[in-house]
Amino acid sequence: MSQVGEQWCRVWVTMLLLLPSAPVEGGELCLMRSVLISLQRVQADSFTKQESLDLPPGARPALYCSNKCTLRDWCQLWCAYPSNTPTHCLISNIIVMPTYQETNLADALTCHTTRPKDLATHANITAGKQYMSFPLRVKENLLDGFYNYDKNQCFLTDSSNSDRWFTLDFGQPKCFQHVILYAMNYDIAKDRFNNVQVRVSNVTAVTPPDDFSAYDLFGEFPGAASRGQVVEMKSPKPVCARFVTGHMLYNNAFQVCHVEVF
Ligand SMILES: *[C@@H]1O[C@H](CO)[C@@H](O)[C@H](O)[C@H]1NC(C)=O
Ligand SMILES: *[C@@H]1O[C@H](CO)[C@@H](O)[C@H](O)[C@H]1NC(C)=O
Repeated sequence: MSQVGEQWCRVWVTMLLLLPSAPVEGGELCLMRSVLISLQRVQADSFTKQESLDLPPGARPALYCSNKCTLRDWCQLWCAYPSNTPTHCLISNIIVMPTYQETNLADALTCHTTRPKDLATHANITAGKQYMSFPLRVKENLLDGFYNYDKNQCFLTDSSNSDRWFTLDFGQPKCFQHVILYAMNYDIAKDRFNNVQVRVSNVTAVTPPDDFSAYDLFGEFPGAASRGQVVEMKSPKPVCARFVTGHMLYNNAFQVCHVEVF
């Protein structure tokens, strides 16, 4: 959702709450996108911010829960549970993309996410060497449509100059206007996400990293990231490309925790 869209949604929800009987259709404008996810996966999480609210008697779960989520600026997902007769809303800042594929179906339920449909989730990826001492921080973490602020959900490259990059492959040229990169949720983000460029191309026939300059620059982030910084790059017009490369010029290991392209 764009920032304008989000602000508009908040104003709308505030208006709805002032009305004696709010139309459910109004709430649905702010409903976001549905996604199947294990309740346990969302609840059992120590890295996220979350709240569980009792559903008041007679309240419509979808309207009540989506309003509560929309009114908290940190909320990214809401779930009414248990699924057949909801008694609670769970609201969380966990990042779950609409095309996320749940593997633990035993307690899966339909939740609603603020995140857009994007191209990074389920793309293919190539990258520089991974940082050896952290075997869980694999590049595939950037494709799974899930991020709970745990550093083991990030991708961490080796620190050598030829390894501080990743390239997403969409299989064919796709058009998009936004690239969003999440820095890690720790203060060391200032060293691990610093002076980052995003470039786009339809070919990958270059040798990293110097030859990345042959690709079109989509956006750049000159500064050092703060803890948990979300870097949003937006092109004035849609750009079409098969490959999106993220590349850190600063001399350290490059850590990216979540990527969205839409
Ligand atoms: C990713 O690679 C696999 C195996 O080469 C291929 O079958 C699939 O179509 C690719 N996906 C995309 C989005 O390019
Ligand atoms: C990639 O190819 C598409 C059409 O096939 C074109 O519209 C687009 O501008 C190309 N992108 C780049 C970055 O060259």
